[in-house]
Amino acid sequence: MRVYELKYSNTNTYLIEGNRGRLLFDTGWAGTFPSFCKCMGDLGIPVQGINYILISHFHPDHMGIAQEIADQGPVILLPEVQWEYVHAADPVFAKEGNTAFRQVDEGQARMIRLEESRSVLEEIGISGEILYTPGHSDDSVSLCLDDGTLFVGDLNPLYELELFRGTQVERSWEMLLSRDPRVVYYGHAKTAILREEEDGRTGESSGDASERGPLAGASISSGDLYDLVSRIMKYIDKGMPLERIRKKTGAEASFIEDVTRMYLTHPGVSVQGILDRIERKGK
Ligand SMILES: [Fe+2]
Repeated sequence: MRVYELKYSNTNTYLIEGNRGRLLFDTGWAGTFPSFCKCMGDLGIPVQGINYILISHFHPDHMGIAQEIADQGPVILLPEVQWEYVHAADPVFAKEGNTAFRQVDEGQARMIRLEESRSVLEEIGISGEILYTPGHSDDSVSLCLDDGTLFVGDLNPLYELELFRGTQVERSWEMLLSRDPRVVYYGHAKTAILREEEDGRTGESSGDASERGPLAGASISSGDLYDLVSRIMKYIDKGMPLERIRKKTGAEASFIEDVTRMYLTHPGVSVQGILDRIERKGK
């Protein structure tokens, strides 16, 4: 099994190659079809070589070119939890006057039940299943492969988990973490490596886990999170580069980037103001 990260829009989308076929996880905004085709061309894989398309949820930045791709042959998989949301983003594109947008044609799609997802994926030699993971939206699904690879779309990143205690986001993550994932691919956040591969490689993580901040897989108390954001803000004030802040705090680079962006774009914001914004961003 092989995963290709396709970079052609503001959404991270993924092409998963199984033993007998390929699945595309998510697509970009309407209008990005030519860039998508170029991306596939660079990989040397024809669009027709994709068997299935799975959309994490029907927000416009994840399903904008799904039908255009499907018109070339790939079939959109529609788990039952998404049936009533398939056209949720259509008004967004209509309002935008986006003429490139094509509504999803359920007649061409394959309506499935989540419990049969394993056998559907097996058809193309992908071992895993599609799981219902609401929280970011009521139609959110994740793709969980047996080798520990996880694709979660816009489910709030693990480093924000502390902010979602007691919510549906936490319940979805609990279910996903019970499957012991190794790597998490997000719709927008940086990929998180949660544990070593069987051959001992560690991926992008480094350092002692006990020294690190809000990171993949590790939880952090609200008080610690407050202190961490406060320290990051002080280092930003000193003009310290991100890499040094990362070394000093042990926090994930993507988290530091989030804090930096919010701090610099909201002059005078308090630590709590940043924590609130991180929380709202995730909703
Ligand atoms: Fe979304």
